[in-house]
Amino acid sequence: MSHTPPVRAAGPGQEPGPAALLRAPATRPLPACWWYDPRTLVVADADAAVRALCADDDTGARSEAFRRPPGWDGGRQTALPGRTARLSWTQPAFTAAAVRAQAPALLSAADACLDRTPPPASDWDVLPTVLETTAHLAAVLCLGGDAALVHGLDAPLRAATPAVVRGAGQPCQDGAHDRFERAAAAVDDRLRAALRRRRAAAPAAAGHDLLSVLLAEPAADDEAVLTVLFSRLFSAQTAPGLLTAWLLHLLATHPAEQRRLRAEARRVLGPSGTPPAVDPAQLTATQHALREALRLYPPSWLLGRTLRRPVRLADHDLAPGTEIRVATYLIHRDPAHHPRPDAFVPGRWATPRPGLHRGAYLPFGIGDRYCRGASWVTAIAALTTAALLRRHHLRPTPGGRVTPHFSAHLEPAGLRLDPHPAPPG
Ligand code: HEM
Repeated sequence: MSHTPPVRAAGPGQEPGPAALLRAPATRPLPACWWYDPRTLVVADADAAVRALCADDDTGARSEAFRRPPGWDGGRQTALPGRTARLSWTQPAFTAAAVRAQAPALLSAADACLDRTPPPASDWDVLPTVLETTAHLAAVLCLGGDAALVHGLDAPLRAATPAVVRGAGQPCQDGAHDRFERAAAAVDDRLRAALRRRRAAAPAAAGHDLLSVLLAEPAADDEAVLTVLFSRLFSAQTAPGLLTAWLLHLLATHPAEQRRLRAEARRVLGPSGTPPAVDPAQLTATQHALREALRLYPPSWLLGRTLRRPVRLADHDLAPGTEIRVATYLIHRDPAHHPRPDAFVPGRWATPRPGLHRGAYLPFGIGDRYCRGASWVTAIAALTTAALLRRHHLRPTPGGRVTPHFSAHLEPAGLRLDPHPAPPG
């Protein structure tokens, strides 16, 4: 690899926080891996990434909870039957058919959110609206017609989360767990209410939302249903909104792409309102733009593993206990895999890329740990974007500056936009 990473820290102690993990060695070309500190190896190479993330048995690595410290869910997940069983219970809710069946409800939920909190005429602080909208769409996917029960609880949960779900190596703030537990308990109460309502409504209508799917699973008792439901709802709180916000930033700075996506949104979904059938997969240009936004700004910009036994990785002999950090942000900008790596080029995804290294594009991970929510994420982000573009033309705020903020997720710091009514047609 020979490119200059787009993020460089000034030096030890000068850039605290997870972004310092992207500090690259001064030598060129860059090595596949380098030591951040005596325990932590940063991986910025597609081959080594596949090895570290995919082959749990081979590397002795295991999925490491550096973004979820022990107790983030009060230990409820670990008290449940195995992870594989849980993943298979939820699988029917993530199929393309299930997402398509819920797409009209998602679009109308996105429109309702935009009616409730329309972007102001100028200087729009994008993140709060987008995070609220995408969290609400996730609630629809989780709870169907009962989504309103958790309305308004997403913001307190998000506010309590960063202090608990910290970047690598940072301790939790005092009282952070208590604040998080209180916010989570409020969500739990409403999930229990939704569950009671469904159990009482006999015979249960077979829906495609996650709660319906879990209720059809004989092995899942009420506590298991609630825990899995909370976990998936929690996973959808922040990252889909950040992805959508990054895409809006890219579209505001690339008006021709924005016009293309607006035309597509109106063609596929109509100029306003909700058609009886909606297929997010038909928003093809939007899907390409989303893929490109995920390449440039992967919300999960750093994936972690801890070694359990000695492993040789990219010419490094690694001891048990070694922390591995796969820097997807850097890999996604490697010109060996992605020509013009720093440019926003959605068209690069318009045709299949059979030669692309399987480790060169990892926004949702790879292998056994691959993100189970990917189909939800693309539907949520595509429909939120389409709903917005049908109404608004987005421009960057004059003098505004957006910078990547590397925290538990990759955030667009300073993102404000100037929305205008979209031209008809
Ligand atoms: C933009 C949004 C999202 C991004 C970028 C993202 C990214 C990821 C990544 C990179 C992994 C693999 C982690 C690793 O290998 O260590 C993962 C796993 C996972 N994600 Fe997501 N995710 C997103 C949203 C969601 C949503 C909305 C859900 C649920 C509804 C979800 C559920 C999961 C699950 C269940 C796993 C697998 C965990 C396991 O293997 O035990 N994700 N995600």
